[in-house]
Amino acid sequence: MAGQLDSRVALITGAGSGFGRASALRFAAEGAKLVVSDIDRDTAEATAAEVRKSGAEAISVGCDVADEASVKALFGAAVAKFGRIDCAFNNAGVLGPMSELHSYPLADFERVMAINVRGVWHCMQAAITLMLEQTAPKGGHSIVNTASVAGLVGSPMLPAYSASKHAVIGLTRSAARQYGRRGIRVNCVCPGPVDTPLAGPLFDYKNNRETLLARQAIDRFATPEEIAELVVWLSSPAASMVTGTPMRVDGGALS
Ligand SMILES: NC(=O)c1ccc[n+]([C@@H]2O[C@H](COP(=O)([O-])OP(=O)(O)OC[C@H]3O[C@@H](n4cnc5c(N)ncnc54)[C@H](O)[C@@H]3O)[C@@H](O)[C@H]2O)c1
Repeated sequence: MAGQLDSRVALITGAGSGFGRASALRFAAEGAKLVVSDIDRDTAEATAAEVRKSGAEAISVGCDVADEASVKALFGAAVAKFGRIDCAFNNAGVLGPMSELHSYPLADFERVMAINVRGVWHCMQAAITLMLEQTAPKGGHSIVNTASVAGLVGSPMLPAYSASKHAVIGLTRSAARQYGRRGIRVNCVCPGPVDTPLAGPLFDYKNNRETLLARQAIDRFATPEEIAELVVWLSSPAASMVTGTPMRVDGGALS
């Protein structure tokens, strides 16, 4: 049976774990070829191996999204292997420490911004430059960035993280307006808390797990696979009229 993304090439950052890994497998199930990257090359390769086992093509590339040269090398490797990129999922991110703003270490603020904002910036620049040279597939090229519900409201103990995700939404909206007429759709996903390695300190902080759960309209946390569903849908021709949208996938936490 034909998949929604047959023969399209999808590039994912932070794909050694969590949402990136789950999305790689979901993209593959829809017929996409995968460029699986992570700062941890071994975990990227483990995801790529799972994708290949499912019958889809995949390469793995080590890439630190905060490093522009590393991002350029990633996109270069993707083009060398597959000739184009139809879908970019700019997903790599870090949480940073749980700390009030007044005592938040500057070095951590800079690291969170370097990965979560500058990393998305580098990947968007590389993806858009390439997409502008290509013929758009049906429904348009797709860029999906990973923001967060913390990009829509304040997070008292995660001020740098929240600011970085607000910035990701700003980049998403701006690029969507700029490139919509040139065949590129740009959206972002805003997940609520999901139990991944990144979110460990958030869940473990005081009695946060219970507090966060009490906010959910749906009485549980989402799984990485439920985030992947939205990412793949946004990347597919089914979402051909969707751009510039920060989409919540949070079990109603912000309703
Ligand atoms: N888990 C949550 O509750 C939650 C909620 C909202 C948004 N997010 C966002 O989702 C994205 C994915 O997180 P996750 O929950 O799947 O976490 P995760 O820890 O499972 O995966 C994050 C991956 O990013 C990689 N990474 C970290 N720094 C990198 C860098 N500089 N360059 C390339 N890769 C790097 C890690 O090695 C890891 O494999 C992040 O942007 C995160 O901010 C997570």
